[in-house]
Amino acid sequence: MLGMSRLSASLLLYLAIISCLVSGSRIQGVWLKMPAVVRVGSTVTLACQFDLQDTPLYAVKWYRGNYEFFRYMPTGRPPYIAFPIPGIDIDMSGSGAHQVTLRNVPLNLSGLFKCEVTADAPFFSTLQASANLTIIELGIRKPSVQVSSSIHRSRVNPLRVNCSAQQTVPPPNLTFYIDEKKVNSEYTRDFGPGLAGLEIQSPPWARNQTRSIRCEATVPGVYFISSNGVSVKYEPEPTSGGQRLLSYLACYCILLQLLITVFGVT
Ligand SMILES: *[C@@H]1O[C@H](CO)[C@@H](O)[C@H](O)[C@H]1NC(C)=O
Ligand SMILES: *[C@@H]1O[C@H](CO)[C@@H](O)[C@H](O)[C@H]1NC(C)=O
Ligand SMILES: *[C@@H]1O[C@H](CO)[C@@H](O)[C@H](O)[C@H]1NC(C)=O
Ligand SMILES: *[C@@H]1O[C@H](CO)[C@@H](O)[C@H](O)[C@H]1NC(C)=O
Ligand SMILES: *[C@@H]1O[C@H](CO)[C@@H](O)[C@H](O)[C@H]1NC(C)=O
Repeated sequence: MLGMSRLSASLLLYLAIISCLVSGSRIQGVWLKMPAVVRVGSTVTLACQFDLQDTPLYAVKWYRGNYEFFRYMPTGRPPYIAFPIPGIDIDMSGSGAHQVTLRNVPLNLSGLFKCEVTADAPFFSTLQASANLTIIELGIRKPSVQVSSSIHRSRVNPLRVNCSAQQTVPPPNLTFYIDEKKVNSEYTRDFGPGLAGLEIQSPPWARNQTRSIRCEATVPGVYFISSNGVSVKYEPEPTSGGQRLLSYLACYCILLQLLITVFGVT
């Protein structure tokens, strides 16, 4: 009888430890909520939500890349620590257990941000969430298209088209379109960041037809912006047409002379 109760007591203790291990070690989830793209110089709040069930919080650590820049520990005096990292300006009044606010973000702060949540003793279990932040420049201006001439005269002189766009960081990828048809990049020339050229030898369109040429500046996943369309007409010199007219005239003269000779019209 005594042995039984001692056995069940130790069993209870064992079960208690197991349940403590199970419930005490679990963080249910960590979620990072923040904008994907913000403008340079703006203020951005990164929010870290977590579900610890009943376990007390030990620490929330924030990283940009591999570098920790902010830590919240409820038992700390003070509970916040900011680690100095160039370009990271923390607004302490907007930062706490569940969020950190960054002021005046520079362009080169784009990258991976991570929040890492650790539950309290005895297990200090840890879970993290991460997301990319992209910082873009303000008011990117439209690229512009310059053409060597708005009338393409001959097949001898190629039509030259340039696209000049703002030199952003990273630099844009420039794409030409002729009547909304993308020009294969093998026909374009790279003149450096934000400047590309296109040479059209023989226009792939019929005479007297007008085509619209535009270009697009793209940084994949960050922005794309199009120029206005520029019209180019293919209107060859009327040399061949003139020659044809001359031969028509010659033909007409011969015919007239023939008529005169045959019918003796005077
Ligand atoms: C961003 O640029 C600043 C100076 O312009 C530099 O001090 C800092 O180290 C750079 N930060 C990163 C993450 O590259
Ligand atoms: C962040 O961006 C990098 C590079 O573009 C990518 O490899 C990574 O999967 C992204 N991470 C997240 C969490 O979106
Ligand atoms: C295009 O740019 C190149 C390189 O800057 C320049 O030499 C050329 O004159 C430009 N052409 C036109 C049509 O603007
Ligand atoms: C630019 O865009 C073209 C066409 O989409 C692509 O083939 C090329 O790899 C891109 N270049 C860069 C530097 O992103
Ligand atoms: C093209 O336009 C020119 C001048 O406007 C005209 O003389 C010529 O007949 C036209 N040619 C065709 C094929 O339409």
